[in-house]
Amino acid sequence: MPITCAPFGSTPTGAAVELYTLTNAAGVEARVATYGGTLVGLLAPDRHGKRADLLLGFDSLAGYLGAHPYFGSLIGRYGNRIARGRFTLNGVPYTLAINNRPNHLHGGPGGFHVALWHAEVQGEQLVLSHHSPAGEEGYPGALSVKVSYSLSDAGELRLDYLATTDAPTVLNLTNHAYFNLAGDGSILGHELQLGAGQFLPVDDAQIPTGELRPVAGTPMDFTAPTLIGANIGADDEQLRGAKGGFDHCWIFGHGGDLGRAVARVREPGSGRVLELFTTQPAVQFYTSNFLDGDLRGKGGQVYQKHGAFCLETQHYPDAPNQPSFPATVLRPGEQYQHTTIYRFSVE
Ligand code: GLA
Repeated sequence: MPITCAPFGSTPTGAAVELYTLTNAAGVEARVATYGGTLVGLLAPDRHGKRADLLLGFDSLAGYLGAHPYFGSLIGRYGNRIARGRFTLNGVPYTLAINNRPNHLHGGPGGFHVALWHAEVQGEQLVLSHHSPAGEEGYPGALSVKVSYSLSDAGELRLDYLATTDAPTVLNLTNHAYFNLAGDGSILGHELQLGAGQFLPVDDAQIPTGELRPVAGTPMDFTAPTLIGANIGADDEQLRGAKGGFDHCWIFGHGGDLGRAVARVREPGSGRVLELFTTQPAVQFYTSNFLDGDLRGKGGQVYQKHGAFCLETQHYPDAPNQPSFPATVLRPGEQYQHTTIYRFSVE
């Protein structure tokens, strides 16, 4: 299917931003802006063939240039939190911006979500590339990153992440799309199944305590299909700490197998289904607890708490400070390589 390109305005410094559109034979359409490598739209039919945009975001570039909670953004260098913006690598301490008091979040204020990515269409893929110089946002190593978007006729939106570095560094790339499979309203009536038997409890600054806690017997148990709203209001210290909702990292019992879904979300009203496949070991499932009706998005919609969900495939938060977590170090000569697929269908 062809990938088309149109102008999407320009940044305050006058750099041109492009909007790429990927379409498939089933009427699914993905729109990607070079600013932030942002997934700005995902149109998909419901069971009657009626299309809706399933992503929170804005109608024009202006919204994305303003403050927003990473709607559709590519996130780097390190998705999620690094405690107090500090880590030590090979005995050298590094200091990062504190942009989510008292922590560093999502790569810092000058992270990949505000970078202008270079775009190139290669066959069926939209390849975005970005060079992050050594020391950018405090991280060591000059990093070359490529993120490719492609859309198959089977409704699979695939993101391939590649990176190399010229000095040891830490890296945790993801995409921060906010989905609502109904197109608007609350997501509490969406049903979620998550192939994860453990999650990472967090402290009151949302940093993992280091414990891998079984989900069994907690509101975090989505091993069987469960309405997102079923237990979101439970009297639970972890839900309260995340401002009344889910904002935690779940650990997959099986990861790395792109042939097997790690998550499935179904919206009974429209019949839309989103299945998630990834090579990553974990996912941050976030229910937009911090949206509070302040932001006006697409078509003037006011985005409310629990108006969307994010499934941010990733390594564990704060891994650079937690030796018991799988390492997130990338060294010269190695290639960082991860893939996440979002498959859209109806039933
Ligand atoms: C992530 C975090 C949340 C929040 C959002 C952005 O999902 O885990 O706590 O910061 O990003 O608002």
